Amino acid sequence: MHAWLCENPIGVDALTWKELPTPQPGAGEVLIEIQAASLNFPDLLIVQNKYQMKPALPFVPGSEYAGVVRAVGDGVKQLQVGQTVACLSGTGGFGTHTLAPAKLCMPLPDGFPAVDAAAFIMTYATSHHALIDRGQLKAGETVLILGAAGGVGTAAIQIAKAAGAKVIAAASTAEKCELCKAQGADATINYGTENLREAIKTLTDGKGPDVVYDPVGGDLAEPAFRSIAWRGRYLVIGFAGGPIPALPLNLPLLKGASLVGVFWGDFARREPQANSTMMSELARWYAEGRIKPVIDRTMPMSELKAAYARMGSRAVMGKLVMVN
Ligand SMILES: NC(=O)c1ccc[n+]([C@@H]2O[C@H](COP(=O)([O-])OP(=O)(O)OC[C@H]3O[C@@H](n4cnc5c(N)ncnc54)[C@H](OP(=O)(O)O)[C@@H]3O)[C@@H](O)[C@H]2O)c1
Repeated sequence: MHAWLCENPIGVDALTWKELPTPQPGAGEVLIEIQAASLNFPDLLIVQNKYQMKPALPFVPGSEYAGVVRAVGDGVKQLQVGQTVACLSGTGGFGTHTLAPAKLCMPLPDGFPAVDAAAFIMTYATSHHALIDRGQLKAGETVLILGAAGGVGTAAIQIAKAAGAKVIAAASTAEKCELCKAQGADATINYGTENLREAIKTLTDGKGPDVVYDPVGGDLAEPAFRSIAWRGRYLVIGFAGGPIPALPLNLPLLKGASLVGVFWGDFARREPQANSTMMSELARWYAEGRIKPVIDRTMPMSELKAAYARMGSRAVMGKLVMVN
């Protein structure tokens, strides 16, 4: 097998494509031949030692992938050799093969291509858990989605529309706003050229959004929070924009609003039954055509460094997927 190896987490340039012995699965594990692996923002952070999870060195990055089970370890009853699965195991995806815990593998029904499956779990699970569970988004409410053309952002547009909400999608370019419209957004704000607060005021008749979905942070967070509606819920998803913003605590008081943390990974670990119910609903929505990953492009696995550069330069719209 071959894989991109991170021996020194000082950035993407230090990754090397290496031939490695093909491992045999231990108890509870499966060997997967990887067909597709998507890039998520944490994949960018983990090779710079900036992510909360710090794997032992050396490791193969690539949190999320899909492929074919080639061998099963002792005690694995639910998966068979030849079956196609998607898996989010945190590492291992940027190679030709990987070992994965069987309990993290989602068997794929017919009609679920590997490219879509590799781009599915992280973004849709995060956005569903955020909007429906943590945010209690209801039909008829208005949600503002920041970074709306990104991975979690595009999933959030589709899920909010599936929930019957009015979606205001905000992004940094006109091209990204067009993509958000095509995904079902009712209105868009280009925060590269427009004043965010003024635009929100105009689009909500001064009332503000009931829910704000924020994977960007930085300078957008405070104006977005200042715009929120009475009893609003501000969902803290991530900080792709860089600095972790600070918020004056009089703002939640004045709006009777809530600042709501979202950590899907820990939700899945702490509440596996609730997570599994949610994943079943998402798989059903996919089969019904209500949600579908937006694929920015597929690239050969050998071009991983170029893919990382594309994500780091804010060029990706939807999801980038590496294929073998
Ligand atoms: N809380 C959770 O459970 C959870 C789960 C998954 C992901 N996350 C977090 O969610 C965030 C987004 O993840 P993603 O996979 O959707 O990433 P992504 O596809 O790269 O999208 C991030 C968006 O952030 C905006 N952005 C602003 N400044 C940026 C910069 N300097 N570099 C890159 N992007 C920038 C970009 O939109 P514009 O150009 O339109 O501003 C971009 O589309 C990350 O912080 C990630 O860690 C959190």
